[in-house]
Amino acid sequence: MNLLITGGMGFVGSNVARHFIDAGHHATLFDIRPRKLDYLDEVQKSWNYLQGTVTDLEALERAITTEKPAAIVHAVGGELGSAYRHFDVHVSGTACILEAARRHDLYTVALSSGAIYGQLEGNEPVTESTPFGPVYPPRDNDAASAAPYSIAKRLAEQWIELYRNFYGLKVACPRLVWVYGPGSEDYQLQGGISLMLRKAIAGESLQLPYGGDTFCNFVYVKDVCDAIFKAVASGKSLTFNASYDRGYFMKEAAAAVKRNIPSAKIDFGPGIWPSKGVPIPRHGISMPTNRPTDNSLAKKEIGYRPVYDIDRGVGEYADWMKKHWDICSPDVVPFHF
Ligand SMILES: NC(=O)c1ccc[n+]([C@@H]2O[C@H](COP(=O)([O-])OP(=O)(O)OC[C@H]3O[C@@H](n4cnc5c(N)ncnc54)[C@H](O)[C@@H]3O)[C@@H](O)[C@H]2O)c1
Repeated sequence: MNLLITGGMGFVGSNVARHFIDAGHHATLFDIRPRKLDYLDEVQKSWNYLQGTVTDLEALERAITTEKPAAIVHAVGGELGSAYRHFDVHVSGTACILEAARRHDLYTVALSSGAIYGQLEGNEPVTESTPFGPVYPPRDNDAASAAPYSIAKRLAEQWIELYRNFYGLKVACPRLVWVYGPGSEDYQLQGGISLMLRKAIAGESLQLPYGGDTFCNFVYVKDVCDAIFKAVASGKSLTFNASYDRGYFMKEAAAAVKRNIPSAKIDFGPGIWPSKGVPIPRHGISMPTNRPTDNSLAKKEIGYRPVYDIDRGVGEYADWMKKHWDICSPDVVPFHF
């Protein structure tokens, strides 16, 4: 079958393309800009690129008419900056995708985010029915996009629910958490595991007197691909957390990087990342940092089976990054932190 992937040149979209291609399918990557990635180059006969914006309903309809996809994976995103751009891409873009899918009766997987949960008290696992908390306020030394992003994703999910209920459209809505792995965009290389690995490979230190007890729901990109693939295979219309079986404290992620690259000088002191006044090593997206996301619904309903614990994910990503240092090194993507 052919799969239409909007945002198909991005981090998650391009990995999803490769995952479906490896399973014998074809992918049409619809994106505002092309990108060169080794894992797409290796299989270039199995995909094609269409330039366009998801906010152009006519362009989407043309793509569907010519490419005849059996399903859509909607994976647009980016470092969008202003609140207006978040609305445009995540809300208007999703509205266009849903309308195009409805007109052509296409099963759709629309990627959502754990950022919709907002700030939550306590530490018990977050399920799909956990009520949302307040969104994160803008923070010093962090991209100011957290609140617009969370709100745009909430609005997009509401619009998805409307299309399910009014039109019977089948839409899967995986709530991804902090995804890491090959193909990360430049802005994503500035935070989390990507940043730790880049610092370690470059021989630079990342040492902070705080933050080791910050909790992060890291998930390797190939586990996310498994969730999306199984959603398409199931044809089910549901919203689910797409996370690993557990989250990790920042100090555990640092330890995994050090196990992989013993010369790494990555150390975080105790406590969580303060919300004000000091730099924090992330790229601006706010997730619930105190609670793990429960993935049992996805396991039960679509047979999701994440297999990348932090050592396996960090190891595979480190190997890829070393091989592709020409696009990941600080000479090309300077450290902000
Ligand atoms: N990466 C994560 O950690 C993470 C976590 C939670 C949710 N998500 C969600 O997953 C989806 C994909 O995220 P990602 O990490 O791959 O993002 P990304 O920034 O790597 O890729 C997004 C892609 O969308 C494209 N794009 C942006 N605006 C577009 C438009 N108007 N029309 C067509 N293409 C457009 C970009 O060119 C880019 O190739 C997003 O919806 C994001 O909110 C990602």
